[in-house]
Amino acid sequence: MKIYKTENYEEMSRLAADMIAACILLKPNAVLGLATGSTPVGTYRELTECYRSGRLSFQEIRSVNLDEYCGLTPEHAQSYRRFMQENLFDHVDIRRENTYVPCGTAENPEEECRRYSRLIRELGGTDMQLLGMGHNGHIGFNEPGDCFVPDTHRVMLSAETIDANARFFASREEVPTSALTMGIGDIMAARHILILISGVDKAETAQKAFAGPVTPEVPASVLQLHPNVTLIGDKAALELLEASGVEMCR
Ligand code: F6R
Repeated sequence: MKIYKTENYEEMSRLAADMIAACILLKPNAVLGLATGSTPVGTYRELTECYRSGRLSFQEIRSVNLDEYCGLTPEHAQSYRRFMQENLFDHVDIRRENTYVPCGTAENPEEECRRYSRLIRELGGTDMQLLGMGHNGHIGFNEPGDCFVPDTHRVMLSAETIDANARFFASREEVPTSALTMGIGDIMAARHILILISGVDKAETAQKAFAGPVTPEVPASVLQLHPNVTLIGDKAALELLEASGVEMCR
């Protein structure tokens, strides 16, 4: 795992965007695995800037998102489809038909999950998977548990995740209680994984995930087993990890 420590969130976002841009320049029809949440917002802003200045095109890019809330339509203000439209897709030249997000309102969620894992395989797998990490170590919506679930599946969100995401809804009661998420196998099949971590409130979990044992109780710890992971974090998030003696590229 290569670990880059940055001064702050802005520098983390610029470096992440540079790495994604490099992936796109080397493979203009790459399959990007994308994430939502606060962490990648700055990265999407930087990528939009690269497009606006004519340095980058998304015309041939295909994208697969990690997850979607159950019960929210694509138009819902807090759906992850809408998040992607507002933070990236509407501002660059990606073709909407080449962007995939699990359907949170599918009549048969189990069938939708099977379709989504199949879709990822049919696209040839992801070239680069962008990830954030939850305070409890979740990646996608793979919450802490007894085992790693390989394929796209429906999860009940933990109370901690509902609390963390309540900030985006009018009240905690409005936060959906379940979601569809890529499984750990879908994520680990990516050729390159880029995980971003920002803020002192993630420092303890970052230490557990990357300096502790690999365990489904800290889902992000599974990334230690992937041969090509880049972690970019700001110094606040990486402080404890560095103190554990884990080497940083810079
Ligand atoms: C989002 C996702 C989640 C977030 C995680 C961190 O698609 O899959 O795993 O990456 O909850 O969220 P933020 O970035 O808001 O702290």
